[in-house]
Amino acid sequence: MLNISQIRAQFPILDLEVRGKPLVYLDNAATTQKPRAVLERIQKYYECENANIHRAVHFLSEVATRRTEEARVRVARFLGARDSHEVIFTRGCTEGINLVAGSWGRANIGAGDEIILTEMEHHSNIVPWQILAAEKGATIKVAPINDDGELLLDEFEALFSEKTKIVSVVHLSNSLGTINPAKTLVEIAHRHGALILLDGAQSVSHIPVDVQDLGCDFFVFSSHKIYGPTGIGALWARRELLEAMPPYQGGGDMISSVKWSGSTWNELPYKFEAGTPNMEGAIGLAAALEWVEGVGLDNIAAHEAHLLEMATDAVRDVPDLTLIGRAKEKASVLSFVLKGAHPNDIGTLLDARGVAIRTGHHCTQPLMDRFGLPATARASFAVYNTEEEVEKFVEALHFAREMLV
Ligand code: ALA
Repeated sequence: MLNISQIRAQFPILDLEVRGKPLVYLDNAATTQKPRAVLERIQKYYECENANIHRAVHFLSEVATRRTEEARVRVARFLGARDSHEVIFTRGCTEGINLVAGSWGRANIGAGDEIILTEMEHHSNIVPWQILAAEKGATIKVAPINDDGELLLDEFEALFSEKTKIVSVVHLSNSLGTINPAKTLVEIAHRHGALILLDGAQSVSHIPVDVQDLGCDFFVFSSHKIYGPTGIGALWARRELLEAMPPYQGGGDMISSVKWSGSTWNELPYKFEAGTPNMEGAIGLAAALEWVEGVGLDNIAAHEAHLLEMATDAVRDVPDLTLIGRAKEKASVLSFVLKGAHPNDIGTLLDARGVAIRTGHHCTQPLMDRFGLPATARASFAVYNTEEEVEKFVEALHFAREMLV
């Protein structure tokens, strides 16, 4: 059993009062708060280690290079990767998917080829593929979900043809909380000769991930959703795929030589890391992963599952409330609508009581269209949330309903 008070004490921001009330932060799917271990690690980096990396022989440059590469090793270990050179630092999931679409996609997708997505994808896993498909004359096929927000596996498999080149699927939906059966999806994609990318934006902080066990070809995640700093994330891919892919951006560090007659590319992972990287971010991310491993992802998942169950049970008593996303396999996310109330008004009334939730389309407009909704209200849980906070959230929801409906 986790000691949640001790965990909370490590997050300075959780002591804030907002609107004159203690903060109840339930917008963790948008971004998580950061423990002192991460904040202090970043401060230490700037106070004692900061220099540009891979470029100089001086002491500080060597230290900063070593720390950044140690961070890569930690990310690789966290993801169960075979080789840290398969880990590319990115700005986050969005850049990771754009990298795959822009590099692997440009080199491997042609006119008439097919890309499979699902109805529950985030815009960051739709728009890069739309840009690629428009450029290449490729087609996007969309796998449907049922009313509970679960992927329909037979319909998913029926979309494959000999032209299917890649499948790109969210591992854990930010709007529904659905955990997709990743291993089954990987098996289906590979059986049909397609590659598969898993968008781990939401999954890494809630479910243990092992890319070798999952068997996927590409995996992306963002640091800020797993207690780390913003502006950093990682793409993992199998080495042979990365070796064969052309660079995504040109610049310093990604080259082995530059001549007016042409340039040659650096080895992995640097081929995909043009320009001065986000060293602070990588080191902060490594501190976040160390912190998560210290708490234990299984413990985190169990605590969040308890809060989600408690909240799901409690909101059943709120009249006119409909849950959006009732998958059997789900985590952390409670999305809902109240008949007669706009989600933004619910969010505003909850905020007046110090309760931070997200309202809107959650960057999943096609999913909202699927449910015939403009938006939902969404509470999302992290390891530092408490039963008392769930009670405050539900109490505030009853109040909002009385005001609005
Ligand atoms: N994609 C993030 C969310 O779900 C920002 O809120």
